[in-house]
Amino acid sequence: MVDAPTPLRIQPLFPMALGQVQLAPDPLDTARLLQRILELREGASCEEGVAWTGDVHGAGELHHDPLFAPLITALAGHAWAYLAALGFDRRRLALHVQRSWPVVSEAGELVGRHHHPNAHLSGVFYLNGDGSGRSGCLRLYAPRQVNELVPGLAVGQDGPLAPSAALNQPWQDVAPRAGLLVLFPSAVDHAVLPNEDPDETRFSLSIDFVLTAPAGAADPGEYLAPHPGRWRAIGEDGPPPGP
Ligand SMILES: [Fe+2]
Repeated sequence: MVDAPTPLRIQPLFPMALGQVQLAPDPLDTARLLQRILELREGASCEEGVAWTGDVHGAGELHHDPLFAPLITALAGHAWAYLAALGFDRRRLALHVQRSWPVVSEAGELVGRHHHPNAHLSGVFYLNGDGSGRSGCLRLYAPRQVNELVPGLAVGQDGPLAPSAALNQPWQDVAPRAGLLVLFPSAVDHAVLPNEDPDETRFSLSIDFVLTAPAGAADPGEYLAPHPGRWRAIGEDGPPPGP
């Protein structure tokens, strides 16, 4: 017999870092961005029930668009704060916006489960949304559910594990709210749930960030890629293009 002088204490272990910051964009600026996004989408043909995502429709580099660039630069500033919270030393990193694109989800549309293997850190910025989630939550999936103890139990199927158990939820949902920036590791699977608001088109921006060594670092260490300014593209035939 072993006495327990205090109750058993349970805490989440190794949580995934979900960054959220509520910003207050100027409504007129937002209106201009929405108008431009609708222009970019014009004439695009999408699969039935699937949201329009600019990255696969020729609008994947908004950071080079003068209208979007200031906003994306400001959002990247918050990405630095996220990295600092994870313990990164910014003096030993370069942060790059690799891709940035709009997502437009009409009533009934969604984005299926996926992740971004091309990037390290991903962000979503909501241009509208009231926080209710009706226009389609961002769903982030747990990489692995070790708390189910017996693999497969958390799936349900009338097993002995309560479906509502907080420490065994397979995902976390984030409701769109105008001005909310969400940051999460690019390796995490995520999806956008169907827009169930017949009166609101859902607008967001997605941003993919990549971490490399700083431009001046000749020795980036073992795992971090050197700064792309030090790379050399190699052509298939003849001399490599570029300097
Ligand atoms: Fe995504």
